[in-house]
Amino acid sequence: MTAISTLTIRRPDDWHVHLRDGAVMAGVLAHTARQFARAIVMPNLSPPVSTVDAARAYRARIMAALPAGMDFTPLMTCYLTDGIDPEELARGKAEGVFTAAKLYPAHATTGSAHGVTDVKNIYPALERMQEVGLPLLVHGEVTDHEVDIFDREAVFIERTMMQLVRDFPALKVVFEHITTKDAAEFVSAQGANVAATITPQHLHINRNAMFVGGIRPHMYCLPVAKREFHRLALRQVAVSGSPKFFLGTDSAPHAVGAKEAACGCAGIFNAPFALESYTQVFDEEGALDKFEGFASLHGPAFYGLPVNEGTVTLERGGELVPDQIDANGMPIVPFHAGETLGWRFKK
Ligand code: DOR
Ligand code: ZN
Repeated sequence: MTAISTLTIRRPDDWHVHLRDGAVMAGVLAHTARQFARAIVMPNLSPPVSTVDAARAYRARIMAALPAGMDFTPLMTCYLTDGIDPEELARGKAEGVFTAAKLYPAHATTGSAHGVTDVKNIYPALERMQEVGLPLLVHGEVTDHEVDIFDREAVFIERTMMQLVRDFPALKVVFEHITTKDAAEFVSAQGANVAATITPQHLHINRNAMFVGGIRPHMYCLPVAKREFHRLALRQVAVSGSPKFFLGTDSAPHAVGAKEAACGCAGIFNAPFALESYTQVFDEEGALDKFEGFASLHGPAFYGLPVNEGTVTLERGGELVPDQIDANGMPIVPFHAGETLGWRFKK
């Protein structure tokens, strides 16, 4: 059997991206808009996007920065805080501004200082979200420094997720950027209202990648990559065809100087070659026929949105990823820098 040389799928969406703001946003936005029709835009700006007005204004800034001729729809999220007003969430949903709300445990990651200190504090908000059908997106890591960083996702399942899905059985929950076999199994065992996104990096690398011959800050993101058996478990569910698992890059740009530092920022910028990166994984797994579901169908079905019109095509053949990308004056090292990927995005 000869390997297929092109893959055409319905236009995909990115169900988890950091577009930032201002000049950087103007520099990274086209990379996402080139490949994806829509994207769930993370609200961890400074200050966070926690009101309908702030989300509406952020959406307008994104649309204003979109290069002419690009067809892209940002889907906005609300950053949940301890004091979030449940009615603000309901109003944001009713007015077509909020597509979801994001739970960052306070101090779990970049831009989470205003996050939730105890999930019980947002129970009234979760109740209201369940009522109006606004999905909850979860950064699933405990912040307890006594817990080993490689165990923080698994411990979060035990300490928070299990109870949360029991207490809100009809709430739509996305376990974001899962990194463990534990999370893959947890999500698989839940009803159709619980799903997960998976990033390209967690399908490609395990934790060794951060320490190859020295410390590799561009392989560092949160949740941090785990052991090899976790990566293999993620690959298995990603290519399984299960509608519970879908594409979310977690593309998180930081300037090269902010990564290559004594205390480097967490985040991997994968937007420029996201589809090529994922396609390579599905190809390696002999599951190219499952890629359209993961990239273009499962997400819309979960969110209750129509699938996109039109298609994109990927072509087999080397794509050299540059060492750096200039994002409107800010140099960023992309995921796969210096590597040649086996697929090329054609449009
Ligand atoms: O690695 C990460 N970077 N993980 C997050 O949760 C946040 C993100 C960022 O905003 O840089
Ligand atoms: Zn993220």
